[in-house]
Amino acid sequence: MEINSNRNEGIPKRHVAVFVFPFSSHPPLLLTLVRMLASAAPNVIFSFFGTAKSNQALFSDQKYNNIRPYDVSDGIPKDYVFMGKPQEDINLFLAVAEEEFRKGVKVVEKDIGLKIGCLLVDSFFWFLADMADEMSIPWVSFWTAGANSLSAHFYTDLIRQKYDEIKGTVGPDDEIADLIPGLKTVRISDLPGEVVLGNLESPFSTMLHKMARSLPRATAVPINSFDELDPELNKNLSSQFNNFLNIGPFNLISKENSLSKVDEFSCLSWLDNQKPRSVAYICFGTFFKPPPHELVELAEALEETQTSFLWSIKSDSNKHFPKGFLERICANGTGKVVPWAPQIQVLEHSAIGVFITHGGWNSMLESLGVGVPMICRPFVGDQQLNTWMIERVWGIGAKIEGGRFTKHGTACALKQFLSSNELSIGRKKRIEALKELAHKAVEPNGGSTKNFKTLVDMITSATL
Ligand SMILES: *[C@@H]1O[C@H](CO)[C@@H](O)[C@H](O)[C@H]1NC(C)=O
Ligand SMILES: *[C@@H]1O[C@H](CO)[C@@H](O)[C@H](O)[C@H]1NC(C)=O
Repeated sequence: MEINSNRNEGIPKRHVAVFVFPFSSHPPLLLTLVRMLASAAPNVIFSFFGTAKSNQALFSDQKYNNIRPYDVSDGIPKDYVFMGKPQEDINLFLAVAEEEFRKGVKVVEKDIGLKIGCLLVDSFFWFLADMADEMSIPWVSFWTAGANSLSAHFYTDLIRQKYDEIKGTVGPDDEIADLIPGLKTVRISDLPGEVVLGNLESPFSTMLHKMARSLPRATAVPINSFDELDPELNKNLSSQFNNFLNIGPFNLISKENSLSKVDEFSCLSWLDNQKPRSVAYICFGTFFKPPPHELVELAEALEETQTSFLWSIKSDSNKHFPKGFLERICANGTGKVVPWAPQIQVLEHSAIGVFITHGGWNSMLESLGVGVPMICRPFVGDQQLNTWMIERVWGIGAKIEGGRFTKHGTACALKQFLSSNELSIGRKKRIEALKELAHKAVEPNGGSTKNFKTLVDMITSATL
């Protein structure tokens, strides 16, 4: 009897095609969502479309029962020579993506023996709205960052129009009130480059602009955030989209990702020997690093202020450090430089007092989830706008003075964040309050948990 019922459970009842944007932090984040869905809905089979490169990074040492990777072309012609143009690989991929997805759908339907019943896609892929319509199936458009940047892209036309009207009187670095619904004030220079100031004709900008028009057609727009973080933005976006669903923070729901990797460079045992809240943890993610002269300024500021620090940075940057820096900090144990650190566990450690970050959405959520304030040095995309929110709206961190590391500005920031002055205490209180709300959101009765159940129902329900 038991065996029979198990066997029944094993028969897939529904087939979902997942289309990933195969660059930067998008694939692991979408996989995290798919893994959450796959374990909540064991009868659903997920065909996970990525490039060979992105899929290999995700699936090479992990296999999942009802998630099947499927490789599509990266669009790079044979013998192609990269010219070093910005976003060259992204543009090559975007040129073939739709056709590749369409071809792939036929293949996986045949392989699995089940028609695709739902599309789960990175929001970037606006053109899949038509594909879902043609197939008469729902599509779920997953935005991998926050409601702030989603809003900036969604209201791009409105922002461009308003900015055109006031351009003579205000510059890109002036604060403008009521530019975006839900953000009290913001500066044009803090918006993602694709909105106003960047190359608006690039394939990437065009894609984001078209995305804005397609989003209201989606069956659901889930994001990795929680309702209480941006109540006004959420309220407004909920009025524009079908089922705008805050289902995060993922880092508080699905911890396995980081736990599966061991602490090969002994960061945690090193932290065990540091004083509480005394260490600056420095990491700019896998894809960004400050230019060499800024690395020097940051290193000099750390030495000058005698700040204890743990710095996760690929070893090809070591040559840029000031002469003797690594030897000096190793000799007396003030700091530790490693090529990789288990970020979530590091941030959770009681020795960490501040996180020096690029202000990426995931890093921000990870820091917030454990109540660690941030010093931000934003680079691209949503990082400027996140930094703006971190400093001006949530009050849980600050942008490095001038947006770049200088010895003086960094030393001031370190002193301010690692001392227990009034400003630091206020920040700490605010981040603790948000941290509590984030944890509540993912409890059994929390908003994100409820929203996630809604999403699971949509994906599993045959009636849609
Ligand atoms: C959301 O913002 C847009 C643009 O400002 C506005 O037209 C709309 O009425 C707002 N919706 C809600 C429910 O606030
Ligand atoms: C350790 O080295 C740093 C960098 O040279 C220096 O600033 C600091 O005073 C030293 N600390 C100790 C405890 O020797």
